[in-house]
Amino acid sequence: WISSSGSYVNKFEEAFASYCGVKYGVAVCNGTVAIHLALAALGIGKGDEVIIPSFTMIATAFAVCYTGAVPVFVDADKETFNIDVTKIEEKITNRTKAIIPVHIFGNPCNMGKICEIAEKHNLYIIEDAAEAHGAEFDGKKTGSFSDIASFSFFANKNLTTGEGGMVVTDNEEYYKKCKYYKNMCFPVDAPRVYSHENIGFNYRMSNLHAAIGLAQTEKADAYRTMRINNSKIYIEQLSDCPGIIFQKDQPNGLNVHWMNAIIIDPIKYGHTKDELIEHLKINGIDTRLLFVSMHRQESLKKFGCDCSGDYPVTDWLSKNGFYLPSASGLKAEQISYICEIIRKFKK
Ligand SMILES: Cc1ncc(COP(=O)(O)O)c(C=O)c1O
Repeated sequence: WISSSGSYVNKFEEAFASYCGVKYGVAVCNGTVAIHLALAALGIGKGDEVIIPSFTMIATAFAVCYTGAVPVFVDADKETFNIDVTKIEEKITNRTKAIIPVHIFGNPCNMGKICEIAEKHNLYIIEDAAEAHGAEFDGKKTGSFSDIASFSFFANKNLTTGEGGMVVTDNEEYYKKCKYYKNMCFPVDAPRVYSHENIGFNYRMSNLHAAIGLAQTEKADAYRTMRINNSKIYIEQLSDCPGIIFQKDQPNGLNVHWMNAIIIDPIKYGHTKDELIEHLKINGIDTRLLFVSMHRQESLKKFGCDCSGDYPVTDWLSKNGFYLPSASGLKAEQISYICEIIRKFKK
């Protein structure tokens, strides 16, 4: 029962889907394959185009490539860092099949506007909610706005199983397809026979991981509060420091602040991002860089994506931004120490 046949897999699926406010969950081994599974269940493949933000983790794009479809990029919004909803429609062609909004750093996208566009153009929505467990838009949880949504439970996420992922959906047909494809296209709820009608994947999550996931889900709101409180301290102590820019919360949204990213205006702050990162390192504070734009990825160019055009907001974020320590268990004194170092370094 340590394999995926153990009872914790179902328990975790039910608990996490219910936390998201949807009917069904299918646990998988990471957040990247969760996106792929969702796309496969929706029948997206060769000849199709899928709209994704240029500012995202590469997993969003790779998952589209795995299906044979082509990711098409839309720049980020300068305030929320999410996909710029005013620029989506200009990228829609007669090949477009789906939009993948990504709730960047736990900040929900403007799902009202995205649902409106998807309905108008008859497109699927797959929320990439890898970073946004428990985030809300208009009082509804992320993961509940799309045909199928995906989550990651990687070690640094607000909820974690070490490695892990899940798709969630309200649609029974998609749910059954996800279960089927995830397990090598063995028949679902039928005796195991070794004839396979379709190409499937082994994306199963083990019972051990699911047991951790269930325990994490029971504490989901507590972890959410810890991240939100940490981010409040950063914002309170740094937002009046010239040249330090924070992500703005999506109006009508609840940002769960997976990561505390800051963007440096080197003229106002007096140092570049790299100088500040180095200074923090000398003081024992580790940081991480932000994503590099999808249109600058050699892998995606080789795959055949259209990487021409400008994505100025994404480039600005990558060039000037980085993550401050963001773990749930950070103590207020530790955050104050980090903020003090940043404030004192300002020229
Ligand atoms: C937006 C986004 N999508 C997908 C993933 C992939 O998740 P995983 O690392 O579990 O494969 C991540 C991981 O950090 C992510 O940030």
